[in-house]
This record gives sequence, structure tokens and C-alpha cells, in this order.
Amino acid sequence: MELEVLKKSFIEKYGEGDIQVFFSPGRVNLIGEHTDYNGGYVFPCALSFGTYILARKTKIDEVRFASTNLELEVSIPVSKLSEKQPNGAWVNYCLGVMKEFAAKGVKFSGMDILVSGNIPNGAGLSSSASLELVTAVMCNEYYNVGLDNLEMAWMGKAAENNFVGVNCGILDQFAVAMGKKDNAMALKCDTMEFEHVPVKLGDYKIVISNTNKRRGLADSKYNERVEECGKAVKDICTVKQIKLLGDIDLNEFESLKNSIKNETVLRRARHVISENQRVVDAIPALKRGDLKAFGELMNASHDSLRDDYEVTGIELDTLVEESRKVSGVIGSRMTGAGFGGCTVSLVHKDSVESFKTEVSEKYTAKIGLIPDFYVAEVGDGAKQIE
Ligand code: GLA
Repeated sequence: MELEVLKKSFIEKYGEGDIQVFFSPGRVNLIGEHTDYNGGYVFPCALSFGTYILARKTKIDEVRFASTNLELEVSIPVSKLSEKQPNGAWVNYCLGVMKEFAAKGVKFSGMDILVSGNIPNGAGLSSSASLELVTAVMCNEYYNVGLDNLEMAWMGKAAENNFVGVNCGILDQFAVAMGKKDNAMALKCDTMEFEHVPVKLGDYKIVISNTNKRRGLADSKYNERVEECGKAVKDICTVKQIKLLGDIDLNEFESLKNSIKNETVLRRARHVISENQRVVDAIPALKRGDLKAFGELMNASHDSLRDDYEVTGIELDTLVEESRKVSGVIGSRMTGAGFGGCTVSLVHKDSVESFKTEVSEKYTAKIGLIPDFYVAEVGDGAKQIE
């Protein structure tokens, strides 16, 4: 992303003056899907691409929002910043965060804001959390709130839960807030204990493949899965008190699972608990450089998301299936919420080009969509740039 070009666009739109620049990355989750809101482990890393905000304070009592790559420009009176925009899709992620800052006592002044991002939207790479966190970093700076990145991650989650209406966990906001170059983050989502783990892949690359099937989180079955996990907890509580599915391991699950009466709910719980175990195994595998073991866990993760959690769909399944056939691929799975979006694969560096060609050809022949590929670079978390 060319900052000078963005600054020019800002000046063309809003006129000359002091501009500040903020950035938040996207993220890819290596393993640990739909475990976060169940108090389990996740293992994401931040990406080198993401969302920029160029901004400045003004003397008019309005906040003007524009974007270089998203439709819609709006000007909102400062007094109305806490109201949801009816057709304001992307702006609502910013407003949700601003509302959280207002709740902390921030009195907003007028601002000019230009957003520019290069995360494909709705692809499971956290374009929403990225927009939330870049907004948070900006507000934190302009109004001297003094929050750290973890506190801002929670505000982003609150905005998404309460304002946008998706009952997501902390995975995305944490990953984009707390990312560190060349490191993944092993996070336990109930205690929030975490550590940075160097992503040492030797001759392998993290390749993200986009199905280009769009996934709308709010209108997808995401909230339904959250509810199903709640039902599983309720059933298990008839025999053992637990707060979240992450409280029990696979052995305990075996002895408790008869308490779950509904077969679908049982499979949802089995995914969460087995996925949690896979992350627990994947973290030391990456640390000791056992990429083969890591790849097998990725494959098992996808299969469980497909069969037990049922959040994949034909596009993701086809992409994964074709990816695994390419020589030099040691693991492939969907990443993010599912229902479309992206996969993540570990691919030998010499096979990346043939991977793109072969997978693309087979996927398009079967699905009729053209996939996109990104070789991931692991970057830093949200911050002010200038
Ligand atoms: C979305 C949500 C996250 C997480 C993932 C699935 O990205 O925002 O909180 O639940 O799906 O792992």
C-alpha cells in the first residue's frame, strides 16, 4: 500500500492539513476454529496486509467517513455517532468502536477519516476486526485514552457483539491487536493466557487460498453454532458443572457425552473439544519444527469442521481437497468462520507456483469461480504509523 498515494487521496477529498496514519492487519488462524467462544485455544497470526486509516481532527461537529475501496461516504454529526447507519455496512464497524470509546467518557470532536484496506472482505481474514482495531488505535491516540492493545481488542469484540450483532469470540480482535512479526499467538480464550510462538517453517510457506465465495457472518449460521454449543453445555451440566466446552477434554467428553440428547448438538461439541486438543498438540509441534505433525492436525481440523461442525461447504471442501492432492502440500484447512472465505495450506516453497496453477484449474472446473492466492507474511499488530 502506497502511503503517499493515500495521502494524496485524503488531501483531494478533505483538503490540506496534518494527517495521521494508523494501521491494523488482517489475520489467518492456523488452527483452532470455533474454539474461542467456547473458552478453548486458538493459534492465529497477524498478516502483513490490512486496513489503514488516515485521519485528522476538524473544527466542524461532524465525522466524515470515506474509503478508497468500499462504497459509501457519510458525514455523521458528532451527536449521532452512537447510532447505527441503516445502510452503512462498513462504517458501522467504526461507529461500534466509537460508541465503546464514548462509553469510556470520550467526547468526540469533528474528524475526517479515509479508510483504505487490502484484505478481501468477508473472506475469513478478519477484515472487520481489522477495521475495528484501526479505528480503536485512532480513537485511543486522538483522545489520549491510554488503552493498551489488549484492552482495545476487547472493545472491538464488544462493538462486533453489541453494535454489529455477531456473537463472535475474541480470536480476530486479539490476533489483529496483538500480532508480532514472524510469530503466531497461542491463546487460551477463557484465561487469556497467551504466548508468541515463532513461525519457523523452513522450506514451507503459508498459502492462503480464497474461494471467492463470500461469507456474511451476521447472516450466516455463525450465531446458530454459538447457540448449539450453549445447548451442549446445558446438557452436560445435568451431570457435571462446566462453564464452557473448553473446560473438558476428550476423555471427559467420552464419559459425559450421553448427557447430550440431540445428535447434531453432540457433533458440534465433539468438534469443539477435539479441535481444542488439536491446538494443544499443534503448538508444541510448531515449536519443535514438526511440520508434518502440524499439517496432519490441520487436515484433521478441516475434516472435523466439515463433518461435525458443518461450516465448510462445497467451495471450501473442494479447495482443500484439491490442495491436498498437490505434491509439496503437508496440510490444508479452512480458516475463520467458514461458510465460504479462505483456506490455509502449508506448501513447499518450490511447489507454490504449481499449487496455484493446479488448484486453480481444478477448483474453477468444478465450482466455476476463480480462486485467489496469497503467500502470507506474518506481520505486527495494530499501531499508529505516522
Ligand atoms: C470468526 C469469529 C471468531 C471465531 C472464528 C472461528 O472469525 O469472529 O471469533 O469464532 O470465526 O474460529
